[in-house]
Order: sequence, then C-alpha cells, then structure tokens
Amino acid sequence: MWILALIFSQCILNVFCEDLRSSLYFVNASVQEVVFASTTGTLVPCPAAGAPPVSLRWYLATGEEIYDVPGIRHVHLNGTLQIFHIPPSSFSKLIHDNTYYCTAENPSGRIRSQDVHIKAVLREPYTVRVEDQKAMRGNVAVFKCIIPASVEAYITVVSWEKDTMSINAEICRIFSSLLSAVLV
Ligand SMILES: *[C@@H]1O[C@H](CO)[C@@H](O)[C@H](O)[C@H]1NC(C)=O
Ligand SMILES: *[C@@H]1O[C@H](CO)[C@@H](O)[C@H](O)[C@H]1NC(C)=O
Repeated sequence: MWILALIFSQCILNVFCEDLRSSLYFVNASVQEVVFASTTGTLVPCPAAGAPPVSLRWYLATGEEIYDVPGIRHVHLNGTLQIFHIPPSSFSKLIHDNTYYCTAENPSGRIRSQDVHIKAVLREPYTVRVEDQKAMRGNVAVFKCIIPASVEAYITVVSWEKDTMSINAEICRIFSSLLSAVLV
C-alpha cells in the first residue's frame, strides 16, 4: 500500500515538475512600427509568453517605465498597451509619437522586445490640389498632386480625374502623385 502511494505521489510530482519547467519566450517577432488614427486608438500586445506566467511591462525607449494616464494610455493586466482615441488637442508627442518596448519576466529571467515606434496620425481634414501647368502642344506636361506635408506619408493617390472622369492611363502616365500627359 505504502509503495503504491509512493509511486502515485512520485507521478504527481513528475507531472507537477513537468509543468513548472520554466520557459520565457516571444510568441512573435514584435512589430516595429504601429501607426494608427488618433480617432480610433490602438491596442499593442506584448507578444511574450512563458511558464510560470509572465509579468509584462512597458517602457519608453529611454528606459522609463510608463504610467497609466486615465483615458489616454493604459497597460492592461494581460500586458496589452492601449492608447485611447483622442481629439487633436490632446495629442502629446511623448505618448502619441514615441518609441516603446515591453519586457516579460518570470522566474526564468527577463526578456526585452524590440523597440516599437507608436505613432498616432491626427485625422484632420485636408485637401489636395493640382497646379496649372503649361506645355507646348505635343510636349509632356507633368502634374503633381500636392498633399499637405502633415499627412503626406499616409496618403496614397488612387486616381486622377478630369471632369470627374477617370483619366485613361494609356494616354497619360501616372506615377502615384505625378501625372504626365502629352498635350494634344
Ligand atoms: C502573431 O502574428 C500573427 C501574424 O502577424 C498574428 O495573427 C497573431 O495574432 C500574433 N500572435 C500574437 C500572440 O501576437
Ligand atoms: C488584453 O485585454 C484587453 C482589455 O480587456 C483586450 O482588449 C485585449 O484584446 C487583450 N489582449 C490580448 C492579447 O489578449
């Protein structure tokens, strides 16, 4: 009876020890850039896991541990960093355009993610325009779609139109924000 009990408890111990074999690793290579609209906010998980469970923390690239700012920035218990949606007047470069990293820690050690640049793009109304161009008949005129610098990096020119008709790419050559046309 005693022997059986001993064997039984040995098994339990084995299983138990198996589970406690500690580990610590990143689930995914972390993204290096998160660009989001200030009107939607974003959730950035710290993609680390391990056993026993890991504790996840977020820091600024300068090494400062970040603190919760009510309604602006919050680190959830599961380690996900949330940047809330904001009106343009609440934009703070320190929070909304900064480099962060996260760490995961458990008894087997501590690992650090790559730096993640987190950037909110302000959703402000903007207009694009095209300036008049002059060219001799039979020559090429190049038109540029002029986009405000503040949004330029996030805008793609999807079409060129003339009198609300899409311009035929066979007559004109379109290089994203440039349109070249042979004047006839
Ligand atoms: C890992 O990356 C994939 C693809 O980018 C994504 O679908 C998945 O949710 C990520 N997993 C975690 C735990 O972040
Ligand atoms: C973490 O918790 C937040 C808030 O409950 C949730 O929105 C988010 O999806 C969770 N992230 C993961 C990776 O489970």
